[in-house]
Amino acid sequence: MNNTVDWAKLQADFPILDQKVHGKPLVYFDNAATSQKPRVVIDALVHYYEHDNANVHRGIHELSNRATAGYEAARARAAKFINARCADEIIFTRGTTEGINLVASSWGAKNLKSGDVILLTEMEHHSNLVPWQMIARRTGAKIAYVPVTGDDGLLDLSKLESVLTPRVKIFSMVHISNSLGTVNPVAELCARARKLGIVTLVDGAQSAGHLPVDVQAIGCDFFAFSGHKICGPTGIGVLWGRQELLDAMPPYQGGGEMILSVGYDKTEFKPAPHRFEAGTPDISGPIGLHAAMDYLDAIGRENIWRHDQELANYAYEKLAALKNIRLFGPKPVVGQAFCLSSPSGQFTGKMPVPLPGRAGLVSFLLKDVHAHDVVTLADQAGVALRGGHHCTQPLMHKLGVESTARASFYFYNTQAEVDRFVEVVEEIQKFFGQ
Ligand SMILES: Cc1ncc(COP(=O)(O)O)c(C=O)c1O
Repeated sequence: MNNTVDWAKLQADFPILDQKVHGKPLVYFDNAATSQKPRVVIDALVHYYEHDNANVHRGIHELSNRATAGYEAARARAAKFINARCADEIIFTRGTTEGINLVASSWGAKNLKSGDVILLTEMEHHSNLVPWQMIARRTGAKIAYVPVTGDDGLLDLSKLESVLTPRVKIFSMVHISNSLGTVNPVAELCARARKLGIVTLVDGAQSAGHLPVDVQAIGCDFFAFSGHKICGPTGIGVLWGRQELLDAMPPYQGGGEMILSVGYDKTEFKPAPHRFEAGTPDISGPIGLHAAMDYLDAIGRENIWRHDQELANYAYEKLAALKNIRLFGPKPVVGQAFCLSSPSGQFTGKMPVPLPGRAGLVSFLLKDVHAHDVVTLADQAGVALRGGHHCTQPLMHKLGVESTARASFYFYNTQAEVDRFVEVVEEIQKFFGQ
């Protein structure tokens, strides 16, 4: 295990983790669904409501000025978090889902027409699938998919050329699969798309809080993530877009805050990002998110990434040693290094781009045991897992299953907790006579 950070000690920063569930110490392994919140984030929310609460961008009074300053400081912090060129490229949303919906309906309505192709991968979360189906129906565009190889959960890049054609107008891809743990080579995919003038979107829901993200090094046009998966509050997220694209996109919703002037028959809109933030926004959300981003970067996302991988590889190897188990997602790469170079192999001095591989989760099925039974029995032992289709129903159909059980890790989890989890899986197998 990595010895530069005392990971077990970090648990003390999370009040919720110090509890028993069904009389057993809580082991929280549902981090891909949502992460827990450290005390600093909870304190930032309480401080905001106790001292600074007011509406933003409107008042000329002290509280409104403070609320606006906090809101805009969070925007600048989010830009730094993903190495955007400037804060104006950051739009606050409710989460990844809303960010992708915004691009699909605003960019999509303006730029897609009948005969165009939207390229996705077969491992997309419904959030990066349904919005595209909706805009495809409205515009007559078609959807194509980069295939997934099978249980090992990799993109079949040998098929990329046949689907990445000049008819593709946008390629929207998941960075880290929430069902498989696959880390996709997004920089390489974006570079291939860019050569054909194709716009790219990266769904960073599972990556932003787990590894250093540099949108300029990735080379995408849009990047979306959710605050609640990176130790921030629920209901806040970020959509990053290249400024020239954002400024050319029509507003997504209309209302207050996003206008320069309004007449009875015509409205002039503000430039991005404000044209995409109609109405009173979530103000405490960005403030809590700001605290979460500071907290994560004080630990270091390259440290978090290493720890995630160590836990996932350890869990994978232990589960793989059991009988009657089917594991999904890429096999761990032995000695997988954290790549400190750009996609081309040249160190650029920018944030490191990790090698494609496996992220901090394991997805599995026990023979003849429904995933929901695994999760229910694990819960009785205090271990919080997730069972179901993980909002990737088409992927589940492709793999010929209805659901999987998933354990997803974060930096406050420990090897001892993985040992406990594997012990519980073995107990479940015994319970079912295996
Ligand atoms: C890969 C991926 N994309 C998108 C989402 C949607 O995120 P949210 O529900 O926060 O909008 C999730 C949530 O689990 C996810 O794992």
